[in-house]
Amino acid sequence: MTGTVEENESSTGYLRPSTEAAMTTGLTAAVEQVLEPLEAFLRFPDGADPAGRRSLWRTALNEPLPQQGQGPQAVLDALNEVVIPNGLRIGAPGFSGWITTMPSVVPAVAGFVGSLVAAQRWYASPGNFLEVLAFSWVGEMLGMGATCGGTFTSGGAVANLVCLAAARQHAGERIGVDPAEQGAAGIPRPRVYATASLHDVGVRALSVLGLGAAAMRTIPMDRDRRADCAALSAMLDADIAAGCTPVAVIATSGDVRTGTIDPIDAMRTIAHDRGVWLHVDGAYGGFGVLDERVRPRYGDMSKIDSLAVDPHKWMAVPLGCGAAIVRDGALQQRSLVIGRPDFHHFDPASLADVGSPFDEFGEGSPYSSVDFSARARGLTVWAALKEIGVEGMRARVGRHLDCARRVAELVRADDRLELVAEPELSICCFRYVPSGVGRDVSPALDTLNEAVLKGVRARGRCVPSSAVVDDKFVIRPAFVGPNTEIADAEALVSEVLAVGDELSRR
Ligand SMILES: Cc1ncc(COP(=O)(O)O)c(C=O)c1O
Repeated sequence: MTGTVEENESSTGYLRPSTEAAMTTGLTAAVEQVLEPLEAFLRFPDGADPAGRRSLWRTALNEPLPQQGQGPQAVLDALNEVVIPNGLRIGAPGFSGWITTMPSVVPAVAGFVGSLVAAQRWYASPGNFLEVLAFSWVGEMLGMGATCGGTFTSGGAVANLVCLAAARQHAGERIGVDPAEQGAAGIPRPRVYATASLHDVGVRALSVLGLGAAAMRTIPMDRDRRADCAALSAMLDADIAAGCTPVAVIATSGDVRTGTIDPIDAMRTIAHDRGVWLHVDGAYGGFGVLDERVRPRYGDMSKIDSLAVDPHKWMAVPLGCGAAIVRDGALQQRSLVIGRPDFHHFDPASLADVGSPFDEFGEGSPYSSVDFSARARGLTVWAALKEIGVEGMRARVGRHLDCARRVAELVRADDRLELVAEPELSICCFRYVPSGVGRDVSPALDTLNEAVLKGVRARGRCVPSSAVVDDKFVIRPAFVGPNTEIADAEALVSEVLAVGDELSRR
């Protein structure tokens, strides 16, 4: 840490004002200060309700742009006293609200270390090496193989975008167009096929890629909420006959509402028979392939063209880590032209004599990604897999599938509860129905269940989310947190019953 103006007077006489002097040493002292508050936070004490205390922390934090720095201690004090104790408790055992969770400890530490020593994923360094190694591990673990192209991304939204850019490239090149160079306008009447369960980010990707959201064709679903393959075949054939260009068929492995997995193998066959790309959005459920109970639903993952998957979901690495895994790595790179800048560009052929890590990009290729400068996100994925291995991931996924099945079992056994969607992965959709009330679609039941959800969350023990399934408002736990056990799933059902009974008595 540097101190006063006097101390900063350099030999050239140049004065650095003390307020510019960010602390660049003294890491141990700084980190030690936040450890105890962080440990306390990770115990998720009862009654901590950051949203309820909003006025307090907003008042404490809402200061004008500092013209003069307040120094490192002021920052550490604010972290300790306000930010950490009011942190978002999405890793608490009873949290099943979102399909994201907090990182477990080792990947979190790897993320911190990486922010210092792997601040750039390109250029030869262990961070760069582990970025590429971890990417191949994820592909191998999920059945796509270790030699695919692609990249870690900021999350599932960008992973889907990168995969669909490759699909666009594939569709264009089949008709002699290079969309990366010439734009999407050269693809006549592009069409992309997915069911209504597709996550919104899939549609957004079509807009960003210039295919347009209107390119989306909705595949009807069968009674199990999976893509109706006969309908898909007929839609493709009709569109091809009408002169449209099918760009991609998207299967979802793990719908965010119900966890349903589309018939991936059958959709792939239909797509490939017509020369069309098969993309899987497995941002949430890609990891389900590890569990034997649902493994057959995924079919042969080595034959799909691309997979979007989120290590920052079930793998519990720090948020900001998705993966776009594309079977044809060369095509994937062609889909993301970044030109040939006259800086930062290395011709691999000229690199026979490397004298410094800054003479080469290292492993992998910066040409496979939308962003350029980024930390080596793969360091956290490497840490997670090195710590618990594939078997650890399999056990975690299995436990969470058990949680969803346990909820379903308890729901089936109680006539005040209705199972609205049978769990496939780690989601279970159900609702509270007071004794003697019919189970049809009913605005009154929707309103009651909205109130039940609110009441359960307010009690703090369990925090599920909601979805609308078959036109019914349902309570939707999605179990992905490394702290979450069967007892937490059981507690959720008890909480719903307690709140539901209380509300229906009133
Ligand atoms: C199936 C699916 N696709 C895409 C996304 C978007 O991923 P992200 O939030 O990491 O951008 C999600 C997020 O929940 C998802 O569940």
